[in-house]
Amino acid sequence: MTRIVVVGSINMDLVTLAPRFVAPGETLTGDRFLTIPGGKGANQAVAAARLGAQVAMVGNVGADAFGQQLYDGLKAEGIDVGHVRRLDGVGSGTASITVAGGENQIVVVPAANGRVTPAQVEAAREVIRGADAVLVQLEIPLDAVDATLRVAADENVPVILNPAPAQRLPAEWLHRVRYLTPNQHELATVLDDRGDTDFRELMRRAPCPVVLTRGAEGAWFRDGDDAPRHQAGFRVDAVDSTGAGDTFNAALAVFLGEGLDVAVRKACAAAALKVSQLGAQPGMPRRDALDAFLETHR
Ligand code: RIB
Repeated sequence: MTRIVVVGSINMDLVTLAPRFVAPGETLTGDRFLTIPGGKGANQAVAAARLGAQVAMVGNVGADAFGQQLYDGLKAEGIDVGHVRRLDGVGSGTASITVAGGENQIVVVPAANGRVTPAQVEAAREVIRGADAVLVQLEIPLDAVDATLRVAADENVPVILNPAPAQRLPAEWLHRVRYLTPNQHELATVLDDRGDTDFRELMRRAPCPVVLTRGAEGAWFRDGDDAPRHQAGFRVDAVDSTGAGDTFNAALAVFLGEGLDVAVRKACAAAALKVSQLGAQPGMPRRDALDAFLETHR
């Protein structure tokens, strides 16, 4: 069984389904409101667990009702929560999400996620040592991401860095990741490219292997000096793209042992399955659903 450690955010998603996105200063009547467990870190942990990996999560929730629900939810997925702290005096992370026409708009308040520390990552060294891969994103403080890269390097464990939400990063980090998994905007931000550069050119410029997601168009990937290669996306009726990137990253980590081409294909399929369902974690596919989907999409 593949062993994955996820270092990252845990949010409660406050989701409004609306007929369209609201304009500044406008009030709109929505169709439905839901609270759904989310957060890029927790989403990746849940998706990896559903796809059959043994998963440990490193992160924080607040000592509030959301925190308890989020903590219990991760445990119910069979995720090791030994390094998930419940912090007093701070709320759990939230994401206010509007879903309209299959797309989303998100505002995140980090709260407890902003208190993930390098020491907390260091305390998880033993589980990191035993992992096949570490997944990390940018919804926690950058010093905790830095500690993740350092501890994983010490322990010889490959890191998949999903640079979302987009931020400038220390250039030397790119030499410490096994795969960087941005979308085009995130890659331009990471490389500090302010022009309108073609994404394939950006991929060539990156000093590390890149797996770049392109939504419904699938993904492009480049390892070593190869030219970027393309995996087409799988067609589905789009209901909600929230968590699709997280599902992609989780599947990539889970299936990497089968080779990059296979892992990217499975990651695109898993992400498409997610897009066809509402909500981040509720919509994430299980291994049998992914296998059945791939069987019918050869
Ligand atoms: O990637 C999707 C996630 O981003 C949502 O679940 C939300 O919590 C935000 O963190």
